[in-house]
Amino acid sequence: METVDSTMLEARRDLQPGRIVGAEEQTAGIGRHGRKWISPAGSGLYVSIVLTAKPVPVIMLALGLATRHAIGCGDIRWPNDVLLNGKKCAGVLAQLEDDKIIAGIGINVSQTVFPDDLETPATSLLLEGVTVSREDLLVRLVALMDRYIGLGSDDILQQFTNASSYVFGKRVRMETGAAGVTCGLDPAGFLRVREDNGTETTILAGGVRPI
Ligand code: BTN
Repeated sequence: METVDSTMLEARRDLQPGRIVGAEEQTAGIGRHGRKWISPAGSGLYVSIVLTAKPVPVIMLALGLATRHAIGCGDIRWPNDVLLNGKKCAGVLAQLEDDKIIAGIGINVSQTVFPDDLETPATSLLLEGVTVSREDLLVRLVALMDRYIGLGSDDILQQFTNASSYVFGKRVRMETGAAGVTCGLDPAGFLRVREDNGTETTILAGGVRPI
């Protein structure tokens, strides 16, 4: 498609399992936690897919893995932000609709300018020296989404643990304001943090910031 409001909204309009919606440009791109996803024409990958299987937290991790693998490098900040040199170049969103999951992936491919007021500094593949066409990236991403979503949950958790520096030993601040050190994933894919006061917390929603 050329221009849409959001591929999430477009996918929701006919909720066909397996349907993949991509756009050149989004005029109302949606990020996590009610944020916007800036989606200028021709410089990013904006894709949504309608899924039916697996619990959402595990799907989120699988899609983060697929996105990082499609890019070919990077770290994954739990649950699924792909970072290059500590800056965010891709994000994943999942929304429940009836018994379906609408998953959205945004990758900054060739943008060179970003708003100053972003919570996490943003970057693009181009700015970090990763050169790939959006077409090739899309083909890779679709194949890899299929591959990672098809894995068992234990495999997804293990591969995520191997791919993300955030799963063990990362000092982070949580959205509650408390600080601690990450100490693994629980069986559902949520992140565990040992807080400085010794309490072990499982983060069910929101994210973490490195400190
Ligand atoms: C995040 O905030 O990290 C998630 C960003 C997800 C953006 C993608 S772009 C394709 C799809 N359509 C949207 O409106 N949002 C997602």
